[in-house]
Amino acid sequence: MTVGLLHPGRMGSAIGAAMADGGHRVLWCPAGRSAGSARRAEQVGLTPTADLAELLAASEVVFSICPPAAAEDLAGEVADTGFTGVFVEANAISPHRMTAIARRFSATGATVLDGSIIGPPPSAAHPARVYLAGPADSVELASGLLAGSSAEPVSLGERIGQASGLKMAYGSFQKTSRALAAVSHAMADDYGVTDHLLAEARRLDGNALLDRDHFPSAAARAWRWAPEMLEAAESARALGLPDALATGSAEVMSRWAADRDDFDLDPATALRHLHRDPTD
Ligand SMILES: NC(=O)c1ccc[n+]([C@@H]2O[C@H](COP(=O)([O-])OP(=O)(O)OC[C@H]3O[C@@H](n4cnc5c(N)ncnc54)[C@H](OP(=O)(O)O)[C@@H]3O)[C@@H](O)[C@H]2O)c1
Repeated sequence: MTVGLLHPGRMGSAIGAAMADGGHRVLWCPAGRSAGSARRAEQVGLTPTADLAELLAASEVVFSICPPAAAEDLAGEVADTGFTGVFVEANAISPHRMTAIARRFSATGATVLDGSIIGPPPSAAHPARVYLAGPADSVELASGLLAGSSAEPVSLGERIGQASGLKMAYGSFQKTSRALAAVSHAMADDYGVTDHLLAEARRLDGNALLDRDHFPSAAARAWRWAPEMLEAAESARALGLPDALATGSAEVMSRWAADRDDFDLDPATALRHLHRDPTD
């Protein structure tokens, strides 16, 4: 099959390589791209086209893999040409933006798939998952391009928003936990207690993202934790460090105010209570 790849960055070139290794002809468009993209495209055997129109005319499926901030404009460029194939929007964008992008294609006759990629630029040693949501036959078509490669396709269902929603759910935890750890270390460095922070960190067990059963216990104690987080925010501010993660954490806990000391809540109910009260 002939596939278009917009564009061969670190992730795009690895996904392009996976499809090219599977015997597919993968086109890319050098117009406006840097020497870095050209080098990556050449390394993995992608075929250049004269312009975007040539790439779109020849491609049954097009993958958009670009900086998230550029995703909507890039999708708009493709939609404006009247593309009628399958457009896989694979960037780290919100389900809301994903839906807006799908709407832009409604007049062209193209099929839009909601995609997201979790993992490093895939290789045999370090595989990644390509999550796909949308019409089943098009998901199957796009999945087939990656079948057997280190970019494992995973079908989520028909609902646009599922793949981008998964990416937002996972990525916000993964990236915010790094940011949170950096603020904690900066605070500990400023007080000369980093070795002790590390020792306490080694005593922590478990992976918070795996531990759904802990949410009721967090909700029951949130009335006490929220003020503690405001103390943490004040400590960060006093050191010239960002305080928004601590104030944000206090806000999360304030949503559990009504669950004080209720250790019998089930995890799904505790999570439902995090949503803003629609009557507020
Ligand atoms: N890298 C990862 O580990 C990783 C993991 C999971 C998901 N992803 C997702 O993959 C996507 C791409 O990430 P990446 O790491 O491959 O980024 P990247 O290495 O920065 O590559 C981005 C590609 O998009 C092109 N580009 C830059 N600005 C653009 C613009 N304004 N309009 C259109 N294209 C533009 C770049 O071309 P030039 O630089 O040549 O101009 C390059 O070919 C993102 O949505 C990201 O969230 C990445």
